[in-house]
Amino acid sequence: MIKQWASWSAIALAAAATCSPVLAQDKIKVGFMLPYSGTYAALGNAIENGFRMYVGEQGGKLGGREIEFFKVDDESDPAKATDNVNRLIKRDKVDVIVGTVHSGVAMAMAKAAKESGTVLIVPNAGADAVTGPMCAPNIFRSSFSNWQPAYAMGEVVAKKEGKKNVMTLTWKYAAGEESVNGFKEGLEKNGGKVVKQLTLPFPNVEFQALLTEIAAAKPDAVYSFFAGAGAVKFVKDYHAAGLSKTIPLYGPGFLTDGTLEAQGEAAQGMLTTLHYADELGTERDKAFRVNYAKNYKLQPDVYAVQGYDAAQMLTVGLKAAGGDISKKDAFRTAIEKATIASPRGNFTLSKAHNPVQDIYLRKVDGKENKNIGIAVKALADPARGCRM
Ligand code: PHB
Repeated sequence: MIKQWASWSAIALAAAATCSPVLAQDKIKVGFMLPYSGTYAALGNAIENGFRMYVGEQGGKLGGREIEFFKVDDESDPAKATDNVNRLIKRDKVDVIVGTVHSGVAMAMAKAAKESGTVLIVPNAGADAVTGPMCAPNIFRSSFSNWQPAYAMGEVVAKKEGKKNVMTLTWKYAAGEESVNGFKEGLEKNGGKVVKQLTLPFPNVEFQALLTEIAAAKPDAVYSFFAGAGAVKFVKDYHAAGLSKTIPLYGPGFLTDGTLEAQGEAAQGMLTTLHYADELGTERDKAFRVNYAKNYKLQPDVYAVQGYDAAQMLTVGLKAAGGDISKKDAFRTAIEKATIASPRGNFTLSKAHNPVQDIYLRKVDGKENKNIGIAVKALADPARGCRM
């Protein structure tokens, strides 16, 4: 008798585990997979801050559900990415993964998310493939594609700045390479030419030999993708080498976002393009900035905005699904149709789930990347290779 009860209860437990109804008191499990160490550590922290701030503004719940957070430091290391993402998917059994910063790591995450069906919201990494050939119904991006700010800068450099012969210098990995490709497309469409492409391995910061090569070649301008601690050192080294006086340095806004305190004099006057800027002047942005400064005693940057908007996108989906993320169609369709009221300005998502957004032209003035106009309005990534 006891034996029979035991086996019945085992069956009941197994059934409960496979088809348990979602209870409002169950927490939604959110897994942050971000860099908390290395050159991109500050970016990972800003993303988490932004995400948590939105949750706080909603009284700690999204779509009626409390949130339980899990964390993995991905170290911006693609070699560890599959193991790291599987810690969240298989060990912690998270409902949503929020990550990451580095494009190489993000591609491994997208593959795992596609295979497991776990919702993935990318709050930075621009890897074109994530909303290109790897696009999927459960993968969303709250940030940008590497192509977007880069293409806009190509147009600005050739048309507005009138610089035609440009050298590029970046880290040799997906983000740097795709950024250079996007820039080249915008530049060459407008009569300019990339005369030489220089690279160094990620996250190397030994720039001297490359700066010497630039000085000798005397191009009209240089375009570079660097970010985080690497961007701080690069902009300072470029200035210290005396190059900024004669060969202007351009880049996507990552070169000067969240870095100006450390770059100081070296960054003054630099022009960059990005989907966020300081002093946008909207009520939405002002409220965001005041709250961020109050919460974290820091000025927000583009990474904080992207984390905040990842939480907004999750909320839109959860609300439509009645708090039940397993209602995949309702969750996905609501995000696809939404207009996200971002501090950057409103944006919608493309068919491939990448933001369609204004790209600002910004000029460094003191500790701010001041908005000096829109470089390209409502720019959509071409989503080459996405079939969805
Ligand atoms: C990327 O690897 O896609 C990446 C990293 C840092 C940035 C932007 C893009 O600031």
